[in-house]
Amino acid sequence: MYPLKRNRRLRTNEAIRSLVRETIISPNDFLVPLFVVEGKGVKEEIASMPNYFRYSLDLLEKEVKELWSLGLKSVLLFVKVPDNLKDNKGTEAVNPKGLMQRAIQTVKNACPEMLVMTDVALDPYSSYGHDGIVEDGEIINDDSVEVLTAMSISHAEAGADFVAPSDMMDGRILSIREAFEDEGFVNMGIMSYSAKYASAFYGPFRDALDSAPGFGDKKTYQMDYANRFEAIKETEMDIDEGADIVMVKPGLCYLDIVREIKNEVDVPVAVYQVSGEYAMVKAAAEKGWLDHDAVMMEQLIAMKRAGANIIASYFAKDAAKLLG
Ligand code: PBG
Repeated sequence: MYPLKRNRRLRTNEAIRSLVRETIISPNDFLVPLFVVEGKGVKEEIASMPNYFRYSLDLLEKEVKELWSLGLKSVLLFVKVPDNLKDNKGTEAVNPKGLMQRAIQTVKNACPEMLVMTDVALDPYSSYGHDGIVEDGEIINDDSVEVLTAMSISHAEAGADFVAPSDMMDGRILSIREAFEDEGFVNMGIMSYSAKYASAFYGPFRDALDSAPGFGDKKTYQMDYANRFEAIKETEMDIDEGADIVMVKPGLCYLDIVREIKNEVDVPVAVYQVSGEYAMVKAAAEKGWLDHDAVMMEQLIAMKRAGANIIASYFAKDAAKLLG
């Protein structure tokens, strides 16, 4: 008696394996997060994110040219705001000469065809480290949406292509979409962080931007990681409100959500492999406990296989080099 079918025939060698491979990854799939700081000649490594850096504008220019040469054509910008410019209302977020606005222009000047997406949330600008305005210890929704909308317009005026609201306030996508239409920015896109969970995996990112919440946590606006249906509800609402791309965040622990959303919606789905996921791989690899490149590729392919069309990842550059 022999097996009726021999599945191993399709695994005999790399030629046949590559012929039948279902999921392919390329630099086209990546969105590269970039951290920007004030100053000149600054390239600071983030302590909890080995080999990931904050750049001043002059070096940001060099970095984006390198990304472009590797086939990486989309960036997601974050800024580290000096403490003295932080307040409760995120006033600095709408400064036309603010760091984000200059960063957008810097990338566009260095690399006019690079797709520029910007983070929209108050936390890097907030004296409380929260994504919205704080009143009596609470994060208030509607006034926050007003500031986030003004911030989005300011990014559009500076030349961004897409805003990426990561704040999880209710109704912000509709408000931003309407403002774009009213102000004539009809081609401005919105990538909504629609299913963003309150996650402990954001720790290293908050080190990178010095943006950790000064009190409490983010559980009144970011989602409870025990929930699944809520992710679909959030995502469908954001699409109804005008989101062009939706996102699930974090990545690896949430691939069930990615697949479910992919099956439900007809807009591109992005996933964010967040800072803590990056840090875990780096730390284990430094100890010699995991093979860095192998684990990185396995995770990235898993995200794509789960249904993500776009992967925001701190590994984008490493992966693009490896994919050559
Ligand atoms: C802030 C924001 C966070 C991330 C992206 N935008 C942190 C947070 O919500 O506290 C996390 C990204 C990462 O960990 O890599 N609105």
